[in-house]
Amino acid sequence: MKTRVTELFGIEAPIICGGMLWVTDAKLCAAVSEAGGLGCLTADQYTSGRELQDAIREVKALTDKPFGVNITLMKSFRITQETFMDFFKVCAEEKVANIEVSGLFATDFIPLLHAAGVRITHKVGAVRHAVKIEKLGYDAVIVAGVEEGGHPLSDNVATSVLLPKVAESVSIPVIATGGMVDGKSLAAALCLGADGIMMATRFLASEECWVHDNIKNWIVALNETDTELFCHTTLQARGVKNSVLQKVNELERNGADQSEIVRAVSGKKLRQALTDGDTEGAAFLFGQSIGRIREVKSCKAIIDDTMAEVAATLCEKAALMN
Ligand SMILES: Cc1cc2nc3c(=O)[nH]c(=O)nc-3n(C[C@H](O)[C@H](O)[C@H](O)COP(=O)(O)O)c2cc1C
Repeated sequence: MKTRVTELFGIEAPIICGGMLWVTDAKLCAAVSEAGGLGCLTADQYTSGRELQDAIREVKALTDKPFGVNITLMKSFRITQETFMDFFKVCAEEKVANIEVSGLFATDFIPLLHAAGVRITHKVGAVRHAVKIEKLGYDAVIVAGVEEGGHPLSDNVATSVLLPKVAESVSIPVIATGGMVDGKSLAAALCLGADGIMMATRFLASEECWVHDNIKNWIVALNETDTELFCHTTLQARGVKNSVLQKVNELERNGADQSEIVRAVSGKKLRQALTDGDTEGAAFLFGQSIGRIREVKSCKAIIDDTMAEVAATLCEKAALMN
């Protein structure tokens, strides 16, 4: 399949792995790229540009295919503004295929990245943000509906409505995320105006992902009704309903200090819980897509099955017109 997304990144399948803090390491990133998609490293899990550079080189030792880096730009206790700047500089130096920005707009680095041949994309949850990033000179927009894992924008618009509206409002390539797991998702996204899809939770439940099997098997067992939006007073997130989310909801109801809420959802706890396989140990920011993930598979199987199914689905639907 050839789309503006495959052409933009020089990949075989229009499938991108979304950034996932603590989850997307060099091995998972390389496995997605080797399978024909665009793998991803998440910069914010490293504490310096140098560490990110080492991880990028680790990916390059595993694959010569294109891959990207997610930079989640936000006010952070862990990462200084200087380190964020180093992340962009390292990506330009290493000529990664794409930088996926989320959070604040990355205005200063676009000329440097373009001069190095690096594409820059931004994850948005609203038409107004898509229009803004096109004006800023971004190469593509990632449209994230409220179904997505991580931090959906509190406009709370579903992918099925947001995606066609963004596709009609910008002329840069459009990537759909939130609820994407297979060939049916890709077919629907293409019909709604996307040039490709981004999947995150789907790749977490892959054989190459390092997290404990308990977590992957949990994803397979969970349903679409098992997540909820939470953290309404800080940065809205979608997570699996467990005792940690219950505690956060309680803190918010009681008007707790923001620092207490931030402590309850700390990334350190998430890393530990992903390592131990403790489903009650942290806030797990999975998407509603968990309801359609029924098997742990290799990244190659995820991508091959998606591409076979999208072809079958589009042909079947086209036949309805005869
Ligand atoms: C465990 C997890 C961690 C995530 N961490 C980040 C992150 O650090 N930065 C970011 O921009 N998005 C993050 N996301 C959001 C994904 O990149 C993607 O937008 C979203 O999960 C897509 O929905 P899906 O998981 O249903 O495919 C995360 C998602 C998950 C599941």
